[in-house]
Amino acid sequence: MNPGIQPAASVAVTDSPFDLDNAAAYSAWRDRKLEGYPTRIEDLVVEVNDPRRLSRAEQAAIHRLCRKTNMAIYAGPTGTDPDKGIPKRLGEQFGLSTLDRNMGADDDGITALRVVEGVWRSGYIPYTNRPIHWHTDGYYNTAERRIRALLLHCVSAAATGGENALLDHEIAYIHLRDHDPDEIRALMAPDVMTIPANTVNGKELRPACSGPVFSVLPDGSLHMRYTARTRSIEWRPDPVTRAATEALAAFLASASPYIFRARLQPGQGLISNNVLHDRSGFDNDAVHTRQLYRLRYYERITNT
Ligand SMILES: [Fe+2]
Repeated sequence: MNPGIQPAASVAVTDSPFDLDNAAAYSAWRDRKLEGYPTRIEDLVVEVNDPRRLSRAEQAAIHRLCRKTNMAIYAGPTGTDPDKGIPKRLGEQFGLSTLDRNMGADDDGITALRVVEGVWRSGYIPYTNRPIHWHTDGYYNTAERRIRALLLHCVSAAATGGENALLDHEIAYIHLRDHDPDEIRALMAPDVMTIPANTVNGKELRPACSGPVFSVLPDGSLHMRYTARTRSIEWRPDPVTRAATEALAAFLASASPYIFRARLQPGQGLISNNVLHDRSGFDNDAVHTRQLYRLRYYERITNT
């Protein structure tokens, strides 16, 4: 071969629905995905007798929902019991065991989210009562520490507020791909979203981290990394990326029936493949102090 001539780049079409060159696989997957998709938050809730030891039927019901929507809400009778074993055992029944030990997590890797004053945590919005914009958890993590699953367990609810909006990230993908596949292409670029380094008092706590919004994991599943924050984030400065982020922000702000809203009650929890979520602001009073346990995992929910 003439060394000056390179063969034309060939596009290997895979059978992945997330392959932008395979419209047929996408279309078939999209139809299956949207058929019979739940439309009410009640449809996501599974009543359970003991989250630590689910019955076969309870386990199957939660699993079926997670396969469909990447999330489910379990409603158990444990109320304000602060036992961390409740969410931990629940997660284990779905193959979730490797916890991300982020800053703020206790030694066991489980983070108690509550209003904390006077310590470093109060500088971070999760530990205040302020609203949190749409995001997936660990969007600032490196690829090696991708958060594939997220579990939130409510120990106690606020007096008012503290609602979570929830959106299956595969639905966000469908919305954007139907809008313009080039926007998906832009959001899959490895340098589309950069989180600048986290530096406190001149010490770098976390290096800058670039990565895609959408990526396909080795098991073929779709992963999403996103934050609607506009500070402390750098988007690739090109028109398609801007159009994509605007389209996504508009969808998240819309009254889409795919966006669920839940105010977790004591004993209830969310198990998810790290779907998009936000949190409204809230107010505690003398007896209603919001406390949630957050568990971030490197695994996805088994067989979803
Ligand atoms: Fe979160």
